[in-house]
Amino acid sequence: MSDNILVCVAWPYANGPIHHGQLGGAYLPADIFARYHRIRGNRVAMVSGSDTHGTPITVRADDEGRTPEEVVAEYHQSILDTWDGMGISFDTFTTTMTDNHEEVVHGLFNALLERDYLYRQTQDLFYDPEAKRFLPDRYIEGQCPHCDEPRARGDQCDTCGRQLDAIDLINPRSRNTGATPELRSSEHYFLRLTAFENPLQEWLDDDKDFWRTHVLNFSKGMLREGLQDRAITRDIDWGVPVPLDGWDDKRIYVWFEAVIGYLSATVEWAATNGDADAWRDFWQSDDARIYNFIGKDNVPFHTIIWPAILLGAGGYNLPYDVPANQYITMSGSKASTSQRWAVWVNDYLTRYDPDPLRYALAAQMPETADSDFSWSEFLRRNNDELVATWGNLVNRVLSLINRHFDAQVPDPGPLDRDATRMLDRAQSGLEQVGQSIEAVHLRQGIQQAFALAQEANRYLDQTAPWQAVKTDKQAAARSLYTALNVIAALRTALAPYLPFSCQLLHEMLNTQGSINDLGWQMHALRPGDQLQKPTPLFKKLDPSIVEEEEARLGT
Ligand code: MF3
Ligand code: ZN
Repeated sequence: MSDNILVCVAWPYANGPIHHGQLGGAYLPADIFARYHRIRGNRVAMVSGSDTHGTPITVRADDEGRTPEEVVAEYHQSILDTWDGMGISFDTFTTTMTDNHEEVVHGLFNALLERDYLYRQTQDLFYDPEAKRFLPDRYIEGQCPHCDEPRARGDQCDTCGRQLDAIDLINPRSRNTGATPELRSSEHYFLRLTAFENPLQEWLDDDKDFWRTHVLNFSKGMLREGLQDRAITRDIDWGVPVPLDGWDDKRIYVWFEAVIGYLSATVEWAATNGDADAWRDFWQSDDARIYNFIGKDNVPFHTIIWPAILLGAGGYNLPYDVPANQYITMSGSKASTSQRWAVWVNDYLTRYDPDPLRYALAAQMPETADSDFSWSEFLRRNNDELVATWGNLVNRVLSLINRHFDAQVPDPGPLDRDATRMLDRAQSGLEQVGQSIEAVHLRQGIQQAFALAQEANRYLDQTAPWQAVKTDKQAAARSLYTALNVIAALRTALAPYLPFSCQLLHEMLNTQGSINDLGWQMHALRPGDQLQKPTPLFKKLDPSIVEEEEARLGT
């Protein structure tokens, strides 16, 4: 029976183009996982959208003298282009500006209100007397109380990296007007997080051994320190409105509504696919698993706040796994949009193919610790692994079959021990890769696939069909038949990771139907089957690209 697999991916702020760290940290792993489950024959919905609210958007708009809508429109399109170019196969990628999202958010807000998980309370907040508006923490600057940095932001200090409360800044001033903010009281809705300490503890104690240790430890640590109720409304005019009379000058806090996007995007997905109730198969049925692919800075929102909202509203499935990744640095330093220290994916795609980047990022996915991306490592991964190990295997075998066997799958005759062992290895390799992906050990999965490709190369070197064709054509046929069927297995094993080149290979192997139709199993090519003329799957890159690309960094 097929399972319902909901692949939820962090909603990127629509305030800049996607860089390699976001791609390798959340979107690529989610995509690999979703593609695997589609091949397995499970029902998959992969959903997310542009996070269009919050100060990251309005600060950018203010700085550029544009409206938030204009900023969002530009970068939403840029993000869609990235998914398209990199093959990130969302079933629905929407935004938090839709009517549907607002409706779903209001539904959960009202459910929590009815069950007394929301309450009103007055707070003292910074107010800009010149701009005549309350100031979110991000809009206040001042001296850092920890490191004395004179231009620390109210939410955090970039110099010492500490999270701050604007109220603790020394000599605070309004970022936009320079005015000294004053404290004014304002009424807000609070989420009663304290009420969820026990249910969350029970949930995190229940069969979570397969979770990543850093995710589980961090989440349990938060519970150990104790939760605090949190304001979920703000004195701003950009965001989802509060569904109550008299609250027109406030909006719902971006983090409260963005996580609800997972539900609203699934509702949108169901409606678009002509079965408006289908979202329930993921959110309200027992044979569903919900995965949240995110970066580690998002963990508290996905293992504490979002589950609390779902528990409070009642009747929804909680995340099954939250396989958060650590960070991917750039040439040894933290990736940074403002300092232009990253690889922008759309820019990358103007010069290179998608699969080499997918490979380089998957091969060192930061699943347990931070990892680094550098152009020299990219070059090495492309030339010494993708081209030398996998590309060459395919190229050698298909070219020899093309040249010596009229591009038809050779008849191996009786298989000898080595051939049988090699084909068994392909079978078990495919299963291993599947198990690794299933457990969201994606780096291990691609390593296993490449280990199998290495073995096939060794088998080929030992059986040397390019020599055997001259002396013992039957032996050459056996060797090529065997290596070809390992390649056929790897076409499936690698399809989630390298969808573009595997599609090309699939066409060269001339198999009927799509890769998804094959299922996650060996699909042997039969003697006499006609193959297409081979073309190389990958390009060797010139070492000069390293210097060229490094020169673009930071400029
Ligand atoms: N926009 C946030 C970020 O880029 C992530 C939001 S994830 C969500 O860090 F679940 F809240 F949507
Ligand atoms: Zn500081």
